[in-house]
Order: sequence, then structure tokens, then C-alpha cells
Amino acid sequence: MKQVTVVDHPLVQHKLTQMRKRETSTAGFRRLLGEVSHLLCYEATRELPMTKETIETPLTDMEAPILAGKKLVFASVLRAGNGLLEGMLDLVPSARVAHIGLYRDPETLQPVEYYFKSPDDLSNRLTIVVDPMLATANSAIAAVDKLKERGAANLRFVCLLAAPEGIEKFSSAHPDVPIITASIDSHLNDHGYIVPGLGDAGDRMYGTK
Ligand code: PRP
Ligand code: URA
Repeated sequence: MKQVTVVDHPLVQHKLTQMRKRETSTAGFRRLLGEVSHLLCYEATRELPMTKETIETPLTDMEAPILAGKKLVFASVLRAGNGLLEGMLDLVPSARVAHIGLYRDPETLQPVEYYFKSPDDLSNRLTIVVDPMLATANSAIAAVDKLKERGAANLRFVCLLAAPEGIEKFSSAHPDVPIITASIDSHLNDHGYIVPGLGDAGDRMYGTK
């Protein structure tokens, strides 16, 4: 897989534009994030290993394709990651889930960890980290560090928006982890917000601030 994949599908781009709009409601933002997550999940799982099993259709036997290997893991970076997680679980209901509680200190822009719960052993499992925003990448790097401590060795990072600065920093910290995003925006502002961006993803999802 490429180091960075931009999912430029028309439906993704249209829905992302609705999400960026200041006037989009909390309910609308959440619904759109759920819809986009289905399309991002489609891209992130494109290379899942397959095997075959013998089944009977009403007409005949056949060797039919099914997913192979251990159940994959979605790792949600709280809070905003949960907006992507729910849609991903719609498509892969048997996936395991890790929750990584991190918030960004507004002054230092460093991640502060407050929660971590994951399946014990992540080796031999594809682990897909989900968080709508890759800004400085400090949160994403910390999340992947934690997952690697649990043995994760096959990872993807899925987001909605990425800043060029974040992509560069993340890719030098974790060159083995491909990024799948709906957009690479222009830059970060002085407060570490993605421009043009969509604002604070967690606040827009949950109506806080
Ligand atoms: C947001 C976002 C990422 C992080 C990205 O979370 O969901 O986790 O910021 O910024 P970074 O790349 O500069 O680290 P936030 O810290 O606002 O927490 P929240 O989801 O609980 O609102
Ligand atoms: N976190 C967000 O939610 N939005 C940004 O633009 C940057 C970090």
C-alpha cells in the first residue's frame, strides 16, 4: 500500500464539503462522518487476505471467497475517533476494538493520555487506527506507539483530514504505517488547527465547546 492514499471518490468529497461548512449541525456532522467512514473503511480494507471455503448455493457447490486470518482490530482515538469507528464496525462487525484516550493540550499541543484498553496481543492482526484529524500528528504517533507496544506490526491510519506537516511527522515516526485520508489540507495555523479544515472534530461531533 502507498504511504499516503487520498480517497478522492466523489461521494467522499461531497460529504466532506458538507462537514466543513460552519452551519452544518451536530446531528448532520455525525451522520455524514458515519457515511464517510463506510467509504474510508472500504479503502482501508482493500488488501485484506482472502481464502476460500466450499459452500452450497441453491444450484451447486462452489469454492467461495471469504476473509482469512485473525479478526482485525479498529483502534479509536477518543473522542472523535468514535465517529469513524461506528461506521467501520457496520462493515466489519466481528472486528475487535481498542480505545485510546488522548487529548491535545491546547498550549503544548502534546497528547495527554487518559485511557487505554486494547486486545492483549495485536501481533498477527491488522490494526486500523481511526481518528478524523491528523494535525501535528502528535496524537497519532502516540496512539501507534502504544499499539506497537502491544505487538501491532501491521497497521493503517485512517483519517478524514490531514495537514502536510502531520503527514511528514507521522511518516518519519512510523514509516511502516500507511495513511488513508479524504483530504490533504493546506497547513496548520498557529494553534495547530488544520486550515481550511473543519474546526474541532470532537466538538462538532458532540456539540461541546
Ligand atoms: C483531536 C483529533 C485528534 C487530535 C489531532 O482530538 O481528534 O485526536 O486532535 O491533533 P494532533 O494531530 O495535533 O495531535 P482532541 O485532542 O481535540 O480530543 P477530542 O477528540 O477529545 O476532542
Ligand atoms: N484537532 C481537531 O479536531 N481539529 C484540528 O483542526 C486540529 C486538531
